[in-house]
Formats: sequence, C-alpha cells, structure tokens
Amino acid sequence: MAKILRRERLVPNIHLLEVHAPEIACKCQPGQFVIIMPDERGERIPLTIADWDKKKGSITSIFMVVGTSTHKLSLLNTGDEVPVFVGPLGMPSKVEKYGTVLCTGGCFGIAAIYPVARALKEAGNKIITLLDAKASYLLYWEDKLKAVSDKFFVASRDSYYNCKDYIPHVISNVIKEEKKIDRVISIGCTYLIYTCSEATRSLGIKTIVSLNPIMVDGTGMCGACRVTVDGKTKFACVDGPDFDGHLVDWEELFSRRKAYFEDEIQSLDFWEKKTFP
Ligand code: FES
Repeated sequence: MAKILRRERLVPNIHLLEVHAPEIACKCQPGQFVIIMPDERGERIPLTIADWDKKKGSITSIFMVVGTSTHKLSLLNTGDEVPVFVGPLGMPSKVEKYGTVLCTGGCFGIAAIYPVARALKEAGNKIITLLDAKASYLLYWEDKLKAVSDKFFVASRDSYYNCKDYIPHVISNVIKEEKKIDRVISIGCTYLIYTCSEATRSLGIKTIVSLNPIMVDGTGMCGACRVTVDGKTKFACVDGPDFDGHLVDWEELFSRRKAYFEDEIQSLDFWEKKTFP
C-alpha cells in the first residue's frame, strides 16, 4: 500500500498526485514512470514521474482524467492508500550536453518534461521550452518550467500567450529563429508527439519522443506496450519509453492505442451510473 500525500486539481482535467514512496524517490531518474492502481479492482496505469523529493520520500505525477481509472484517481484524497504503486520503471532519458535542446510538452507532458528539461539544463544545455495547451486556462507549472528554460513559449488557441498557433507551426518558427537546434524532446499525448516529430523530420533534427502505449505489467512480461521502432519490435516499458520519433511506426501505435476504446467508454458509463446514481 502507498499513501497519498496530496491530490490536487491543477486545471479542469488535470490533477497532481503526490505519493509516499521513499524507495522510488531515492533512485528515480528523469523520463522514468510508475504504475499505479487506484483500487484492487482497477487497472494498472502508467504515470510519468514529474518530480520527486528524496527527503520527504515522495513521488509527484500528473494525470489527465480520461477513463474509469483516472476518474477513480481524481477522487483520492490525502491519507488514502492505493494498493499498487511500483517503480521506477523504464529507461531514464539520456541526458548529455547536446547544445540547444527544444523541449515540447502538452497535457500531462507539461509536467513530465519538467525533470528532463531540468536535468538537461544542469548538464549545460540551452533549453527552449515550448508548451501546448488548447486554451490558456489549461496551462500549469509555467513558473517551474520557466525556471529551467532559457526561452519559453506557449502555443495555445486563444490569444493569452505569445503563440496563437498549433505546435508544429510554432516549432518551425522557433527552429527558423534559433538557426541551430541540436535535439528536440517531446512528451504528451500521441498526436502531439507525432506532430512534433513530423515537424522536424525533413530538417533532420534528432527528435526523442516519450511513447505512451497501453501498458499492463510495465516490466516487459505482457507485451501490451509493443511498438515498432526502426522495423524492430520493442516494448515501451523496458526498451523505452523514449525512442527516436522519426523511426516509430506511428500508424501501428495509433491503432493499438484505440484497441479498447469501446470498452473504456462502456466501463466509464457503468462506473458513473454506479458511483453517482
Ligand atoms: Fe507489459 Fe510492457 S507493459 S510488456
């Protein structure tokens, strides 16, 4: 069992979850994830580690409310316990001195890109952060990301921020302005990381994406997270989650992510009626 230290709604559909897990906090690294089960009958959900506190022994993750299990997570309160909280899982992100790194994030990826950007900054890179939010009220952790960035942009569809545009166009503009980008890193929903990857393909800028396929065990045993990268079968939970976006078979990934779409809708409908009759 792991104790919830804090559960907080950051923006309308995104929540922060801080869990007491000292063994994970003392060894996790940027880019890794945990698997959580909201209750004994719930599914196992992978959540990217967004921050940690070794002294307090806590792990912070951000999740978006989309289906039954994330709805259940959104109802947890301080002091509640979850039956499963395992990690750190996955390979840590590669952190080296590359030069100028463009870090892009959207939805839960805004938080997930934070420890990666921080580590890259500490390694001596120039960090340009570009966040995507459909509307300005969906943006969070702006201050934390600004603190580790040399330049900071937000692409949103309203005019509150500096780039009223979709992220691929903003990426192209940032690359044109900056002249030399040595690496792009993208975390967020599959469509966002796919479009970021496509925006850099013709320019030949190495683009690392954090893949988020359906996962079950998170330890390479079940095959649920199978992806094809450079024509080879990989398991995102143990070989990734970071991969070269220009080598990912995106069509297969999109199709595998939709495998339980109908069941997820039915499950949520059933749970909603049972929980809020
Ligand atoms: Fe089971 Fe990756 S989640 S092999």
